[in-house]
Amino acid sequence: MNATRIKRSRDRRQTMSDVIMQTADEVIAATYKRFPIVLEKGQGCSVWDTEGKQYTDFIAGIAVCSLGHAHPRIADAVSNQAKRLVHVSNLYYTIPQTELARMLVEKSFADRVFFCNSGAEANEAAIKLARKYFNDQGRPERFHIVTMEQSFHGRTMATLSATGQDKIKKGFDPVLIGFSFVPFNDIHALQAALDDRTCAVMLEPIQGEGGIRCPDPDYLKRVRQLCDENGILMILDEIQTGMGRTGKLFAHEHSGVAPDIMTLAKALANGLPIGAMLSTEKVSSAFGFGAHATTFGGTPLVTAAALETVKIILSDRIPARAMALGTYFRNALEGLKQKHHSRITQVRGKGLLLGLQLNESADDLVPILMEKGFLVNCVQGHTLRFAPPLIIEKTDIDALVKCLDEILTS
Ligand SMILES: Cc1ncc(COP(=O)(O)O)c(C=O)c1O
Repeated sequence: MNATRIKRSRDRRQTMSDVIMQTADEVIAATYKRFPIVLEKGQGCSVWDTEGKQYTDFIAGIAVCSLGHAHPRIADAVSNQAKRLVHVSNLYYTIPQTELARMLVEKSFADRVFFCNSGAEANEAAIKLARKYFNDQGRPERFHIVTMEQSFHGRTMATLSATGQDKIKKGFDPVLIGFSFVPFNDIHALQAALDDRTCAVMLEPIQGEGGIRCPDPDYLKRVRQLCDENGILMILDEIQTGMGRTGKLFAHEHSGVAPDIMTLAKALANGLPIGAMLSTEKVSSAFGFGAHATTFGGTPLVTAAALETVKIILSDRIPARAMALGTYFRNALEGLKQKHHSRITQVRGKGLLLGLQLNESADDLVPILMEKGFLVNCVQGHTLRFAPPLIIEKTDIDALVKCLDEILTS
């Protein structure tokens, strides 16, 4: 049913947005608490609702549309590929999937890529690969994975079991066995949690959903060391941090160490659904024929979009831009913190993944900012998360910070 038909079928005094929202609330599973606007188009860093109101998008589909909305080159890549070949299954080779994998391998520590459709699926693949790797070595008891408190790895049964937040698991018991949790940044707790049943340590280089929490300067290096000393795998979930957002193509590059397995999703195809699990040859060899599969993984359509996205990220030096604009944004937020020190407690993050922690509810600020034309979101109740398109301009940042200043002054 299109919007016009919905409109005709309802009370004529209602706006089109009212009708869409009412219908959606009746027919879509109620898993998402949505804000009362209906978005219908985007361009660059802006989106528009059905009433014609413009918003500057400081959340980008939660760190997804890094090159902005309706990017002409990505739109062309999708349209051209849609006219050529959309899907054939993984029974056959295709050109865009091969090209994308080759490019990801060339630009990362990895030797091989497994394509899937979402972040949770990429992590699911990583968990399976880590278990299979030790199983193949005759060590089936070695299936335990240590992850971090406050982590977020997805909503499938395995990935919610790996997630270090009780609220995500509530009502879904029994969760999978084989996961234990230690505080992020506590290397001694991690060391104590490892034993000869552990196959991997799994963590985000910056905790996104957990409140934009950064690792201490040498933390990832020490995690890598512990993994090496104990002969276990290091899995990095770069689903939110990857593809340039933190100022490097992959956030772990800031630490100078590489994982054995890395997962990507979100920004990889600038909004088309994709997930990817990258790994070294040694580890990947545990995934032989038939070990894992998914119908839609790496379709020509989605990988054509991802390929164009990666090409633009590299040729336009998007990670360096994210770092420069992120530093500018961060300094502006630090200035706000100095001015409103009784209300702002911390500025955290790297590149254009930033958090502003308040000593009051940040949830309440989100609709106020939306009313004033800025889309942001809130994590962990007290932290505003900013994950704008990486093509954001200084003038957009200035406008948001000015607006925040006015709200916090009032
Ligand atoms: C770090 C991290 N891992 C995994 C996921 C799950 O990804 P998806 O929602 O695509 O399943 C997310 C999503 O927010 C994430 O931020």
